[in-house]
Formats: sequence, C-alpha cells, structure tokens
Amino acid sequence: MKKIKTAIIGAAGYTGGELLRLLVHHPACELIYVHSNSQKGKKVTKVHPDLIGETELVFTDEVQTEGIEALFLGLPHGQTKGFLEKHAFPKDTVIIDLSTDFRDESNGFTYGLPEVNKDKIKQAKKIANPGCFATGIQLALAPAVAAGWTKDSIHITGITGSTGAGKALSETTHFSYRTNNISVYKLFNHQHLKEIGQTFRQIESDFQQELLFVPYRGNFTRGIWITAYFPFEGTLDEATNSYRSFYQEAPFTWVSEADIDLKQVVNTNKCLLHLKKEKGNLIIYAAIDNLLKGASGQAVQNFNLAFGLEERLGLNLKSIAF
Ligand SMILES: NC(=O)c1ccc[n+]([C@@H]2O[C@H](COP(=O)([O-])OP(=O)(O)OC[C@H]3O[C@@H](n4cnc5c(N)ncnc54)[C@H](OP(=O)(O)O)[C@@H]3O)[C@@H](O)[C@H]2O)c1
Repeated sequence: MKKIKTAIIGAAGYTGGELLRLLVHHPACELIYVHSNSQKGKKVTKVHPDLIGETELVFTDEVQTEGIEALFLGLPHGQTKGFLEKHAFPKDTVIIDLSTDFRDESNGFTYGLPEVNKDKIKQAKKIANPGCFATGIQLALAPAVAAGWTKDSIHITGITGSTGAGKALSETTHFSYRTNNISVYKLFNHQHLKEIGQTFRQIESDFQQELLFVPYRGNFTRGIWITAYFPFEGTLDEATNSYRSFYQEAPFTWVSEADIDLKQVVNTNKCLLHLKKEKGNLIIYAAIDNLLKGASGQAVQNFNLAFGLEERLGLNLKSIAF
C-alpha cells in the first residue's frame, strides 16, 4: 500500500500522543516527523512510554513543509492560525486541525464530522476536526434535527474525562480535585455550542432552538457521556428506525437496542447511541471516547476519507469493556 508522508504538530500532547498510537500502525501512513518544542531531541518513547517497541521516532522542533502530504495539528486553541501563517504548506497538503480555530469553516476548512459531511470531506484539503462534546451532542441529535422533531428547547447534559482538558496540569485536572469529585463548568455557555448550531442549521436551515447544555467534569480519565431529550410525539420504534437510517453509511456510529455504558466505547472510535421514550420525551444517550471519536480517531477517519482510503483503516480498535 502506498504510504502517505505525514507529520504531527503538538505530538507530545494528549491528542498528539493518540495520533502517534494510531498512525505508527496505520498501513497507509509514513510518519516523516513529529513536532514538539518542549520535547525536541527526545525519543517519542521517553514522553509516551507505552509506545516502547513500536517506534524509534525522535521529536523535532523543526517544521518541514515540502514533501508533507498530510499534516495533523494538535495545538491549543488559538495557536493553529498563527502556526499556519508562519509555516506555508503546499496547497495540496491535507491539513487536519484538532483545535477550534477553523471550525467555523473559515479559510477554506471543511467541518470534519463524517456522519454529516462525508462527501465534502472526501474532496477536502483542509479539515477542521470537531470538538469532543460537539461530536457526542451532534451525533445524539442530528437525526432528530433532520427529521424536524426538535421544535422546543433541547436539554443536554454531558460528562467528560480529565484528558479532555489536555496534558498541562490545572486546578481542576489535579488528582486531589478531580478524584471522587464532580463539578459543572461553562453552564449553558460551552464553546462547542457554536459549531453544534452551525451543523444543525446546515441540516435544517430554520434551526434556532435553544441548546441548554450542562457540561460536567467527571472523575475518570477518558470518555464522554451525553444525555439529550426533547418533547416527542412519535413512537420509540419510529425514532429508532429513523436514527438507524440516518447512520446507515456510518461505520462507527451505532444505535444499540440494549442499554449502553461508557466502557463499551473507551479505546474505540465508536459512538454508541441508545434511545428511550419516557413521559412524552425522546431521550438519547450517546457515548464516545473523547480522545478517539472526539479527537484523534475522528482525525484519522477524516484522513482516510480525504485520501480515498477505507474509512475504518487503522481504526479497528478493541474496547476496554471491563
Ligand atoms: N483532549 C481532548 O480530549 C481533545 C478533544 C478534542 C479536541 N481537542 C483539541 O485538540 C487540541 C490539542 O489538545 P490536547 O488535549 O492534545 O492538548 P495538550 O495535551 O495540552 O497538547 C497540546 C500540545 O501543543 C503544544 N503547544 C504549542 N503551543 C503551545 C502553547 N502555547 N501552550 C501549550 N501547549 C502548546 C504543546 O507541545 P510542545 O510545547 O511540546 O510543542 C502541547 O503538548 C486542542 O486545541 C484541544 O482543544 C482536545
């Protein structure tokens, strides 16, 4: 199989590390360099010791632009724009950015949610990978928005693992704060609501409903659980059939008849959905791994689509389950 010459920027971080774990084994990828300012000159296995025996790569702080066919960027929000202004990559380099910088589809970027934008992603050279909460919420609600069922405000809660906040230590990712604890942040005001609204208006141009989102910090390391509900007059069968039909071409997003739990998706690129009808509401549970379907796994899925590869290539992962 032809190998695509690839580079990762921000490779010492959490999403960068996940990209490395996926791409060192991807049959269509050759990692030309992995970038880190803080870890330059160090072996990748010094920073990501779990990769022992899997790679001999060394971090560099130099940025080679020529000859790179695919570029992944795992930089903090607000850093990617400046990076790409400073380093001009050839026009045909496929750029996949994991930050929020281009999720408004500015500068020619395509929003990389394959369940909604697959055909556009297949043609795209610049892809803005969705946020982690945004991925879970959009997959929980997109079929309902498309069917015109969301006429009132939509109630959403979401809980995320500590890796969602990145590698750098902060007050609320410190073990002493996070363990045996739970807390709300950015009540009704999370930054991902913007990209979610953008997608829902793309699906249904009149979409203006309030998304009342309560985000929680969870006391676990990885995974996102979403619960969303709104008044619904139809039957559960009708909703389930409609969701299955919406996701029939989606190889990672599944509607489960049985109840779901977070461990079924941790360490996979899957989104599992489960629907219930209670007291006149349709309730949707969605579970993803924030670092995979919510970040690096979805980025590799977008890489596969942009290069005309099989969508699941390098992403047939095993859940932790227990
Ligand atoms: N974590 C998640 O679950 C998740 C999910 C979806 C999207 N995202 C997005 O993906 C991007 C990367 O997230 P992450 O969790 O991988 O972050 P991270 O663990 O903090 O890693 C970011 C990396 O960027 C580099 N960097 C460059 N300039 C920096 C600066 N001014 N401050 C701090 N780091 C800087 C750092 O590497 P060097 O200093 O070594 O160069 C660092 O290792 C973010 O935009 C994030 O919002 C994250």
